Amino acid sequence: MQNVQWYPGHMAKAMREMEEKLKIVDIVLELIDARIPLSSQNPSINQTLIQKNKPRLVILNKIDMADSQVNKEWLKYFEVQGIKCLLVDSNKGINTNKITNICKEVLKEKLERERLKGLKPRSIRTMVIGIPNVGKSTLINKLVGRNTAITGNKPGVTKAQQWIRINKDLDLLDTPGVLWPKFDDIKVGYNLAITGAIKDDILHRDDMILYFLDFLRNSEYRKLFEDRYSVSLDEDNVSVLDKMASDRAWKRNGYSDYERVYDLILNDFRSLKLGHISIERP
Ligand code: G4P
Repeated sequence: MQNVQWYPGHMAKAMREMEEKLKIVDIVLELIDARIPLSSQNPSINQTLIQKNKPRLVILNKIDMADSQVNKEWLKYFEVQGIKCLLVDSNKGINTNKITNICKEVLKEKLERERLKGLKPRSIRTMVIGIPNVGKSTLINKLVGRNTAITGNKPGVTKAQQWIRINKDLDLLDTPGVLWPKFDDIKVGYNLAITGAIKDDILHRDDMILYFLDFLRNSEYRKLFEDRYSVSLDEDNVSVLDKMASDRAWKRNGYSDYERVYDLILNDFRSLKLGHISIERP
């Protein structure tokens, strides 16, 4: 087991900034990766949202990369906890047009209370939060309906909060809330690295791939791997990796070139050549 110290300084500062932003929004759009919903959910912000009783819509993003059956299971998982959840492909804009109505539904009672107090009807204020690479900018661009990338917070540059009008009912904070992924459990780190949320060189790549092979061996995706590489996962991991290297004549200093095999597996997984694989399921 590696003892992973994951940018504690950055994380504390990011959380402070996030809590300031939370005060000015009605509802949070919490983006997580459909392939690893738990590993890609920052546990500190989850606690904060619960403690502050902050309404949220969980957006399960990148559904096109995950197993569609498992996506449905996650939807149920959140809904039984009373947390609204939406399955989204931000690249193609699948379901992004449902966000406004769901936000209105979640905030119905609050808006109704304001109406009864005689307050003027107003638009809902929201913000997108999530770990790096989960698709925050892609979603914001899709909602805003233009292709200019919205630049994130630059270190040292303080900037007034800007609101973008999505439609008459919804205003969006223009900069997403960036959360550092946080993990005490190394498996969470592996999940983040395999999906490309964090660089895999901060972890031991050998251990990460062995973990991934063990996962595949015990999953319904086993055959996808075996067929693609003409290997049997009845064999132990090192034999599997050796066969993959020798089939391709990938040698280095007389030994199997494992690094090339690792790159092959990771690239194939990330580009869906291995199929639609959900690493976590409820
Ligand atoms: P961030 O702001 O949260 O850091 O994430 P960003 O929008 O930059 O998205 C990271 C990558 O994820 C982008 O790929 C983006 O196209 C992709 N992405 C976002 N949403 C989806 C989705 O719903 N489905 C799929 N398939 N991809 C999505 P990229 O720019 O090509 O980067 P990379 O893939 O080379 O890392």
